[in-house]
Amino acid sequence: MTPPVRPSRTMRRVDLVVGLAAALAARAGRRRRPAPAVDRSVAVIVHRVRRSCIDEVHGADQVHGADVAELELVSASGGPLPGWRPGAHVDVVLPSGRVRQYSLCGDPVERGVYRIAVRRIPGGGGGSREVHTLTPGTALTLRGPRNAFPFAAAPSFLFLAGGIGITPIAPMVRAAAANGADWRLVHTGRTRASLPLSDELAALDPERVEVRPDDAHGGPPSAEELLAGHPDGAAVYCCGPPPMIEAVRRAMPAGRRLHSERFSPPPIRDGRPFTIEVAGGPSVPVPADGTALDALRAVRPDLAFSCRQGFCGTCHVPLLSGETVGDPAGPGLTALCVGRAAGDRVVVDLPRTSPEKDPRPVRQGPRVPARPARR
Ligand code: FES
Repeated sequence: MTPPVRPSRTMRRVDLVVGLAAALAARAGRRRRPAPAVDRSVAVIVHRVRRSCIDEVHGADQVHGADVAELELVSASGGPLPGWRPGAHVDVVLPSGRVRQYSLCGDPVERGVYRIAVRRIPGGGGGSREVHTLTPGTALTLRGPRNAFPFAAAPSFLFLAGGIGITPIAPMVRAAAANGADWRLVHTGRTRASLPLSDELAALDPERVEVRPDDAHGGPPSAEELLAGHPDGAAVYCCGPPPMIEAVRRAMPAGRRLHSERFSPPPIRDGRPFTIEVAGGPSVPVPADGTALDALRAVRPDLAFSCRQGFCGTCHVPLLSGETVGDPAGPGLTALCVGRAAGDRVVVDLPRTSPEKDPRPVRQGPRVPARPARR
């Protein structure tokens, strides 16, 4: 494996500027814009697969199936991978053509390998189940990395992670520890065995890491418990299930901002029903509490999606008529997963090929010399 490469002075200056800009934006209360797509494809090979729970024995004989798969990905051509910052994720193009976003959970200093950890979601869209079938030697394509959850310098940090939400948090914890910051991590989830990376992070400083499995405490912690011991001025970073993030957000002291990333679609608030018409048919009603993506997938189950939060671009399609609201797609486009009609109807064009094969054109970015980066 490529030995760790320390960031250059230039990279450290860039980090400083990015950190200051993020801190100023946070102080100004500005909303974070969706991370722009990165038109860069990276060919990688699955180097190693580790499953967190596969050896957990309950009672005399029960062996639980692996809940979380941790994958190490290396460059197909053998060199360093594109650099990244804590909080970054990559688009993973799976062998089926599905595209899914996963946070990079390794150490940015290690330029020869990307690490991702994926929780299997039995009733999901199939992406996590497919990741769990990958074996060493499998070739994959990545896009990115890009960062929708930027980490800014601060004197002290409180990190809150729910289950697999530890993935974007882990590199932040390492960076805080490496910089000598005052930090504390609370990692919560259903069972001890379902909490990946926590042992590794506890090894940095066991006194600063609290692993809190629900089954040992009679249920999940309250937001007040999570924020207990929250030092004045500490930056709070949280990633986990939406109810956890919302509860922490409500419990934050007045005037303090929560840095968070969710792994699931945002709730639909004050939604109104509308009709989405596909050029050439059909027209599909979209309910007040549903998305255009879900409505269209009822008639076009092959319609591609990934993040369900508007930023990845997988479901962006041409908007032929009508206006949308809450829509991060660019001019002339709409994000089916979050965009809603401003009026009663919009008309869109849909790809005619199977989107599961990821029909988006990929512009060729600079050639990556040789390989290694969340819910
Ligand atoms: S699924 Fe990612 S933008 Fe809609």
